[in-house]
Amino acid sequence: MKSSPWWKQATIYQIYPRSFFDSNGDGEGDLPGITSKLEYVKELGVDAIWLSPFYTSPNKDGGYDVADPRDVDPRFGNLDDAKKLIQVAHSLGLKVIVDVVPNHFSDQHIWFQQALKAERGSAERARFHFYDANEDGTPPNNWISLFGGPSWTQVADGQYYLHLFDSSQPDLNWENPEVASDYEVTLRFWLDLGVDGFRIDVAHGLVKENLLTNHPDPQGISDALRLDVSMDPEIRYALLPTVPYFDRQGVHEIYRKWRKLFDSYKDRDIMAVAEAWVHPPINSTRYVRSDELHQVFNFDLLDAPFKSDFLFEVVNRSIELMDSVGALPTWALSNHDSPRVASRIGEVQARALALFVLALPGSCYVFAGQELGLPDGEIPDSSRQDPIYIRTKGAQKGRDGARVPLPWNGETAPFGFTTGKPWLPLTDKWKELTVEKQSVDPKSTLNLFRTALKLRADHLIDQGSITWLESPEHGSKSDSLLALRRGNVSIYMNLSDSAAEVEITGKLLIMSAGIVDSRDGKVKIPPVSTIWVHH
Ligand code: NOJ
Repeated sequence: MKSSPWWKQATIYQIYPRSFFDSNGDGEGDLPGITSKLEYVKELGVDAIWLSPFYTSPNKDGGYDVADPRDVDPRFGNLDDAKKLIQVAHSLGLKVIVDVVPNHFSDQHIWFQQALKAERGSAERARFHFYDANEDGTPPNNWISLFGGPSWTQVADGQYYLHLFDSSQPDLNWENPEVASDYEVTLRFWLDLGVDGFRIDVAHGLVKENLLTNHPDPQGISDALRLDVSMDPEIRYALLPTVPYFDRQGVHEIYRKWRKLFDSYKDRDIMAVAEAWVHPPINSTRYVRSDELHQVFNFDLLDAPFKSDFLFEVVNRSIELMDSVGALPTWALSNHDSPRVASRIGEVQARALALFVLALPGSCYVFAGQELGLPDGEIPDSSRQDPIYIRTKGAQKGRDGARVPLPWNGETAPFGFTTGKPWLPLTDKWKELTVEKQSVDPKSTLNLFRTALKLRADHLIDQGSITWLESPEHGSKSDSLLALRRGNVSIYMNLSDSAAEVEITGKLLIMSAGIVDSRDGKVKIPPVSTIWVHH
């Protein structure tokens, strides 16, 4: 069954174009490569794809530094390739979501090039945040870029411009109506090309306030905002509400206008999902009010430990939060910015958790390679390309490990990803992880996902919310069992290293690991595994 509207309980497959499939042997994935693999994606059982940026870009930040938001970078193909991709996806029944990056442009965008040549106070500079230096020559405030180093870079005439990310990503000034109207042209451009929705990068960052005020712990907030920097959760959650440059009320005005634009494409069910990491979490619900966006990413599972009390809390909080505005939560275990879940909590744990999460109400985002149980790549420092690694001078390794190319077939790296030299190395250790091998192994992670997605569509979509059966607070025999019921399916996740015996009647639909021993109404759930039972 499909949910209605299509995005409400969809499973959305995130493709990082550079790492998916290379069709021309240059070592980088491209749009025709994606198109050629859409059958594979369809067979997985997802409803939609989300494409990370493929626009014209000097690629200083993996394409999130956009030099022309209305064109395709030649490394990925051209606009005809984009049209073809959308058309083939639609013919297979897949929706297409593209990334938009409205917080900043690349410094190679024509506007920024014009701003550099223009005078202080000019209309060209007013599209960005240019300010004079302090009297002692220092930048206007002490903010630290999320990629390390100062948030300000000085230009030839002494003015500084703001960049919350890399110095090659100047922040746009959304107080300037020209910025807003140009972005509407971009949204319409992709909608007219046929896309079904947008993932909005740094959706909470567009409007800036307190631009000339220092923060007492600029490094702390910058680290707290980064999922790849490990930090005591207590310290992180104390710092996050003090971030002065995100989640200003003005952003909501922007999304109200965007919503009108989306709705003007009648009968298309256009959706948008906000990348908005805001604190306290209740603030995230503002992004999905009925006249704003449709979904907001939930990042809580991206760094969650594999612990029952923690997961129990996250699931409850996420469902309750969104319920307060009549929305459903989203779930993601991996993305291109955080360590892959199989590396972070372990391969078997990642299978168990994926099967658990796929049963929950709301939308699930699956990062390409997650369905293969792919761990982070083993990247030598000399191959690292993430600006985080470069700007912190190696102190932080950055996100390249998560962005490694997919292993498709064959016995040795690069496993069919490219006929050339892959932009990031794959390891020969992944011989058993290829799509080719896993497709024919009934016990593979790939087949676990395929079966789970089919069962999810058959039994769980539109089944309403969950009822806990066993949990740390609901009479669980051990604190390592989470069990819930949704519709006619019960879901049990055993997080411990020993089998968990429970009394269940019903038909076993799927299990994430091992052999489920079932006798006289008693079921032994293997260690670190999840099962679904149909009643
Ligand atoms: C969030 C994106 O997911 C990340 O990859 C990017 O570096 C920053 N936004 C800046 O655009």
